Amino acid sequence: MDTKTLMFFALFHLIFFLSPSINNALSTRKIRARKPYKSLVFYFHDIIYNGKNSHNATAAIVGAPAWGNKTILASQNLFGDLVVFDDPITVDNNLHSTPVGRAQGFYVYDKKDIFTAWLGFSFVFNSTEHKGSLNFAGADPLMNKTRDISVIGGTGDFFMTRGIATLMTDSFEGEVYFRLRTDIKLLFCFLYTTGGDGGSNLSYYHSATLAVVHYI
Ligand SMILES: *[C@@H]1O[C@H](CO)[C@@H](O)[C@H](O)[C@H]1NC(C)=O
Ligand SMILES: *[C@@H]1O[C@H](CO)[C@@H](O)[C@H](O)[C@H]1NC(C)=O
Ligand SMILES: *[C@@H]1O[C@H](CO)[C@@H](O)[C@H](O)[C@H]1NC(C)=O
Ligand SMILES: *[C@@H]1O[C@H](CO)[C@@H](O)[C@H](O)[C@H]1NC(C)=O
Ligand SMILES: *[C@@H]1O[C@H](CO)[C@@H](O)[C@H](O)[C@H]1NC(C)=O
Repeated sequence: MDTKTLMFFALFHLIFFLSPSINNALSTRKIRARKPYKSLVFYFHDIIYNGKNSHNATAAIVGAPAWGNKTILASQNLFGDLVVFDDPITVDNNLHSTPVGRAQGFYVYDKKDIFTAWLGFSFVFNSTEHKGSLNFAGADPLMNKTRDISVIGGTGDFFMTRGIATLMTDSFEGEVYFRLRTDIKLLFCFLYTTGGDGGSNLSYYHSATLAVVHYI
């Protein structure tokens, strides 16, 4: 992530949190963390259904252009293919490590003349270390070594977070398997200061006293 990106987030963040009405509504307390951001690294593993691997496929083509089909990714840089996935997330690059959660969402190949996609997905955690989810969205120009997408929010441990995730293709095996390294940098997060069920109870969030952790 370059300095310009960080500056943009810092500015956005300042404008958002200096607004008195927002501050009052949430009755927040600000905590400044020692590090400029919270850093997390995960890998997720995508095995695309190819007509023969239904037992271990974690992704399926659910939409294809008229010149393609749902078994084989389309010609013209896969343009028009829409893939839904439910991929295991691991902390190292081994597909067989115990997953800490699932990456769930879709990608759509959206340019005819180059190989590029648009991603919309969540990390749904299920581990002792992390509870809740992180939501991601953004353009993924696959030919670039690193690609930045937005962390647009979260729940549980990551309640209302914002940040950036740098994706790197860690492995690519034909048209069946790929592994993405995801370097996540969260710029701030909310913390509950009293009890809570850690996730889904919205009325709880409205009544709770929240603390904003500023990572920047
Ligand atoms: C999926 O299963 C097939 C058949 O057992 C195997 O050859 C392949 O390596 C598996 N794919 C992955 C990514 O583990
Ligand atoms: C899908 O398209 C590929 C490539 O054109 C073709 O080989 C395959 O037979 C098609 N599969 C189906 C189920 O139509
Ligand atoms: C979460 O992990 C536990 C223990 O590994 C497992 O039993 C459970 O099915 C998992 N839940 C989900 C939603 O994946
Ligand atoms: C991807 O790489 C190309 C060529 O190096 C560069 O021009 C482009 O700005 C990069 N795109 C993104 C989104 O980083
Ligand atoms: C949500 O949290 C509030 C406050 O803790 C509690 O009174 C309420 O029963 C919870 N609602 C649900 C549906 O869990």
